[in-house]
Amino acid sequence: MKRLLVLLVVLLSFAVVFGGGVVEIFSWWTGGGEEEGLFAIFEVFNEWYPDVEIINATVAGGAGFAAKAVLKTRMLGGNPPDSFQVHGGMELIDTYVVTGLMEPLSDHLKEWGIYDKFPSAIMDICSYNGLVYSIPVNVHRGNVVFINNAILEDVGIERVPDDWPGFIEVLKKIKDAGYIPLALGDKDKWEAAHLFESILISTLGAYNYNGLWEGRTSFDHPGIEEAVDIFHELMNYVNDDHAALTWQEATRLVFDGEAAFNVMGDWAMGYLKTLGWTPGVEFSWMTVPGTKGTFMVVTDTFGLPKNAPNRENALKWLKVIASVEGQDAFNPIKGSIPARVDANKELYDDYLVWSMNDFATNALCPSIAHGSAAAEGFITALNDALNLFIANQNKAQFLRTLRNAAGEYVY
Ligand code: GAL
Repeated sequence: MKRLLVLLVVLLSFAVVFGGGVVEIFSWWTGGGEEEGLFAIFEVFNEWYPDVEIINATVAGGAGFAAKAVLKTRMLGGNPPDSFQVHGGMELIDTYVVTGLMEPLSDHLKEWGIYDKFPSAIMDICSYNGLVYSIPVNVHRGNVVFINNAILEDVGIERVPDDWPGFIEVLKKIKDAGYIPLALGDKDKWEAAHLFESILISTLGAYNYNGLWEGRTSFDHPGIEEAVDIFHELMNYVNDDHAALTWQEATRLVFDGEAAFNVMGDWAMGYLKTLGWTPGVEFSWMTVPGTKGTFMVVTDTFGLPKNAPNRENALKWLKVIASVEGQDAFNPIKGSIPARVDANKELYDDYLVWSMNDFATNALCPSIAHGSAAAEGFITALNDALNLFIANQNKAQFLRTLRNAAGEYVY
């Protein structure tokens, strides 16, 4: 026993003197294309810091619907992980920064010589009072339709219109041909909100959509009601079992040749690739009807909680995710573009090059469902209200709930 204790003390001192130890990284990337990207960045970390062991703390569930609650409990309970996945924008700022739970990272970025290597639009939503509080590893695009090419060919559709009436005509044809026109899996609710916010960007336009969060656009704007009508119409073309499926299971319907379209963020692209598809071969893509020229931004970032148990190792992790090497290992698999402006574009497929070009030139709109545009309370209210709307189709009730939520959490 005594010998064992001595050995333990020796090992611990060794770890303190020579680095080593562990780092706990918290995320919701657990498979279906997500974990593959995470593991690729872990590999870079292991190369850079072979003596530090990563504890991969994940809570499954797309968009972090389950992870976020666990994280909040840990953070408020004084038991933070060393670093955690968080969306830039309100999810970071409102939940963790204004509450004083995070360390600023600006000085570290300067020390690493990369403070100016990120797009300002992304850095802005990772900052508060002039200080950066999280480091973006990627930019996902939310307003995308993924398309099964073989089904379109079979039904004889050569071009998919990018206005809603034309798109709905195509949905009808696909339905008549016996396929599921639009794959949806809203088991975790946020997936319906994801579809709805994509429509909202089309009916409001980027300027008015952004105005909702900047105090310029009222929640009485007719574009909101219009979005509800389109959403309602689309429900005639989704799979019957949508409420039982996750986003991966819905994307899988496209892969399995059962559904023609899936409106999803481009993590679905990462998933299709890990299933074995090549962008532009078995599947193609387009912006959600009416949203050409607009890029719905979803950005995954990592921060440093105050009192991180392994702070030095957390900084090592942040250095890796901030690096070109880390981002170029992660993003081509994850289906996102790198946040670093100086990444190696050669490593990215046709889809991602398309996304990069659009990101650089389009109007940017922060996502609601993925934490950037609005506070958590608003997101929960929207998710619940949409869920109820799908069941009872009561538009007046939905609009009332939405406006009340805006009054409480946005204005
Ligand atoms: C988003 C996240 C993406 C992806 C997606 C589905 O919120 O930003 O990286 O994980 O959820 O889980």
